[in-house]
Amino acid sequence: MTNTKDLITISVRGLQKYYQVLDQRYHILDGLDFEVKAGEIVSVEGASGVGKSTLLNILGAMDSFNEGDVEVCGVSLKNLSERQREMFRAEKISFIFQQHLLLPDFTAIENVMMPLLISKVPNKEARQAAFAMLEKVGLANRTESFPSQLSGGESARVGVARALVGRKQLILADEPTGNLDRDNSRHLMDLIKDLQREFQFSLILVTHDMELASMAHRRNRILSGKLNPL
Ligand SMILES: Nc1ncnc2c1ncn2[C@@H]1O[C@H](COP(=O)(O)OP(=O)(O)OP(=O)(O)O)[C@@H](O)[C@H]1O
Ligand SMILES: [Mg+2]
Repeated sequence: MTNTKDLITISVRGLQKYYQVLDQRYHILDGLDFEVKAGEIVSVEGASGVGKSTLLNILGAMDSFNEGDVEVCGVSLKNLSERQREMFRAEKISFIFQQHLLLPDFTAIENVMMPLLISKVPNKEARQAAFAMLEKVGLANRTESFPSQLSGGESARVGVARALVGRKQLILADEPTGNLDRDNSRHLMDLIKDLQREFQFSLILVTHDMELASMAHRRNRILSGKLNPL
């Protein structure tokens, strides 16, 4: 019997990403290897500009790469058409960003429903699932608020609810606490940790913040285009 703990969510071999300017190549990622198992929280740390967001965007099929093999949730990301990338994103992964990128003209619950509606979940079901997730992040009483009426910490929690509502296998988070003060940041971190324990998704955590990184099961740093364990 397969132990789900051993299922591989991410397998990256020899990843290269470079920008070509005239005849000069600027390598951002230069032979990077990375493996993440189902249910793991893994950090990606490193100085500004080393390629953390670039790696995350490649894993989320938001950005292309030049060389290597990248397999995420059983899908090889080489040579995918734009349509296939969209399907991959819709089915397998969610993002949590520093700027929570809530849609300003929609209420909190509508923002959380959005990924389900895009996946053709019926409205009533989507609303129920979104409400349940907002309840989990402590915002059951703010479902009808618009983003402009929410604090930074509340917006961040709506962003987390939206990322988790589709119950994806993999969550990609880029500085999820980046805009928040210490208390809100800790609150969000504890919340994400509890939800990860409950739903057992894999989580890639890109961050500068050592405290946030300390919640990872495994920590890594990008240096000279490669990923090294910390
Ligand atoms: N379109 C582009 N053309 C050329 N260089 C680019 C392009 N996009 C990104 N870069 C460069 O790639 C490098 C890695 O950028 P990336 O955003 O991945 O860094 P990061 O590690 O996420 O940094 P931060 O911690 O500041 O968010 C940077 O030096 C950036 O200038
Ligand atoms: Mg970045």
